[in-house]
Amino acid sequence: MVPVMDTTDLSGKTALVTGAGSGIGRETALLLGTRGADLVICDLDEAGLGETERRLVDLGRSVVARRVDVADREQMRAFADAVHERVPAVDLLVNNAGVGLAASFADTTLDDWDWIVGINLMGVVHGCHFFLPKMIDRGVGGHVVNVSSAAGFVAAEPLCAYATTKFAVFGLSEALQQELHRSRIGLTVICPGIINTPITRSSRGRGIFDRSDTRAELVESYERRNYTPERVARNILKAVQCDRVVGPVSPEAWGMWFLKRLSPSLVRWIGRTSTERQLRRFGG
Ligand SMILES: NC(=O)c1ccc[n+]([C@@H]2O[C@H](COP(=O)([O-])OP(=O)(O)OC[C@H]3O[C@@H](n4cnc5c(N)ncnc54)[C@H](O)[C@@H]3O)[C@@H](O)[C@H]2O)c1
Repeated sequence: MVPVMDTTDLSGKTALVTGAGSGIGRETALLLGTRGADLVICDLDEAGLGETERRLVDLGRSVVARRVDVADREQMRAFADAVHERVPAVDLLVNNAGVGLAASFADTTLDDWDWIVGINLMGVVHGCHFFLPKMIDRGVGGHVVNVSSAAGFVAAEPLCAYATTKFAVFGLSEALQQELHRSRIGLTVICPGIINTPITRSSRGRGIFDRSDTRAELVESYERRNYTPERVARNILKAVQCDRVVGPVSPEAWGMWFLKRLSPSLVRWIGRTSTERQLRRFGG
């Protein structure tokens, strides 16, 4: 049995969150801090990271904050070395950093593929590669959270490369969960639906998704949905507490999770017709 991590009281534990300078990563780091954990956080965006660090310090937590590109193997190696000089291992590893790309396959360039695979997939691989061995060696359990997406089990044409990376994170997580079970380390793959975070503004778009009107529509639909990253953070800690392997977050993610298993062809039809509606509307 994997010892369950009590996420209601994390005093004495160290949690690491990648992409903690914004959105889901920031809110997860803050909630972990509120529940008593000390934090190791990283992000590419120094200003956002600094803001999260300041709020964690205000909570009275010890914080290590570092600008790190999760896609960069050597930066992640140096980050892990620095962390392991302070603690023998982290207790909770949250591989959250990620980017969005709205584009069909035809509009996705090879540079886009390198960029998104580097961050969304290799960022998670690097997190696991550099931080897991010390967790395993320490032999007292722990938990890994990999942030995938509802697009990690339902693919749609406009999210071709994004869904590819998120399916990959899902597959990696399912395999790794089995391997970690022997070391009594839990793993949860988190699959959020539509979450209102700055990702809608920072995502890349190609083809019709590279236009201001489609971008505005995307931002507005996420704002209207208004499922907050704070709620995602609460759901992440709940999923860890329950040692849940797959954690869809938000009603639409849960709905698609069940529908995909009930009728994959219906899910494909929904995806195709909603893309066609979008293409008609924006003249693609
Ligand atoms: N917002 C959603 O609707 C949604 C849905 C499903 C899954 N997700 C996933 O949740 C995770 C967090 O997304 P979010 O919505 O909070 O977005 P966000 O843009 O608010 O936060 C992502 C953070 O990751 C950081 N980041 C990006 N590239 C990085 C890199 N190379 N190295 C280090 N940090 C990097 C960004 O600077 C940013 O601070 C992502 O993996 C995303 O794919 C989001």
